[in-house]
Amino acid sequence: MSKNKLLEFFEELDESNAETDSSEEQFFQKRESKKRQMEARLFTRAQEISREFRFTYKAARFEEVWLLDSLFEIADHKWISDVLRKVKGGKEASVYLCKSGEGVEAPYVAAKIYRPRMLRNLKNDQQYRTGRADLDESGNVIVDDGTLHAMQKRTAFGEEVRHQSWIAYEFKTLENLHNAGADVPKPYAMEKNAILMGYVGDLSNAASVLNSVSLDSSEAQRLYERVIHNIDLMLTHKIIHGDLSAYNILYWNGEITLIDFPQVVFPESNPVFVEYLLA
Ligand SMILES: Nc1ncnc2c1ncn2[C@@H]1O[C@H](COP(=O)(O)OP(=O)(O)OP(=O)(O)O)[C@@H](O)[C@H]1O
Ligand SMILES: [Mg+2]
Repeated sequence: MSKNKLLEFFEELDESNAETDSSEEQFFQKRESKKRQMEARLFTRAQEISREFRFTYKAARFEEVWLLDSLFEIADHKWISDVLRKVKGGKEASVYLCKSGEGVEAPYVAAKIYRPRMLRNLKNDQQYRTGRADLDESGNVIVDDGTLHAMQKRTAFGEEVRHQSWIAYEFKTLENLHNAGADVPKPYAMEKNAILMGYVGDLSNAASVLNSVSLDSSEAQRLYERVIHNIDLMLTHKIIHGDLSAYNILYWNGEITLIDFPQVVFPESNPVFVEYLLA
């Protein structure tokens, strides 16, 4: 099943949940039958992939298919050898702790997998897209007229490209900032709706978000200065995070790591950048 098909599939699922019908009984019957059909398709899909890729994490049924589909290529390229557990289900994506494959020096890596619903709900991304060229699944700027036209017309293909660009920005930004020496996870791979990056934490515990940590005043001061250092570095590279708060900063062993970059803004080409800076 291609990513498109899978997205269609989830879309149908959402629609079947949102459907309204004058007859309640009819509605429930229809929904049940749709659900059964979908479960059958899901089961087939899961069986197909799981012949080649199995993981320890016991996912719910829908989640398992989404995970298998999202991580299959990453596993195939030996970036990961297992999915151990879910670190966190966020608004836009879920993050999983994975055992590294041969291609990675660290023992664990984090896989951020964007949710299908999120990928369909990028209606408000225009403010962030202003002044930033769209990127393809390899992170290269899209120049093809046909593709750009499809995105402008918001065809199904155009929407798909647009979603991919959102994810590619997170990956590209991690690459740029990691190379610049910022405190961000090391990016390893991007495949479709998944980003593989350095995991912050150990086998039993993932790093906390800074918002949930109590700090004494001297440590708070030291970390504040480190955040400012990172903001400085970002501005030197003409990048604004766009959603920087204590919820997007990890804390582990006295160090911070900035995460969650899909909405980066470029101050030179986005006229409303000051708003982001002050937000
Ligand atoms: N590299 C990482 N190592 C360890 N934990 C991570 C890593 N990246 C993300 N996390 C965890 O996953 C959570 C979600 O990640 P992120 O903020 O990138 O996604 P999100 O969809 O924006 O989620 P949210 O809506 O919670 O902000 C983080 O709050 C953090 O707890
Ligand atoms: Mg976040």
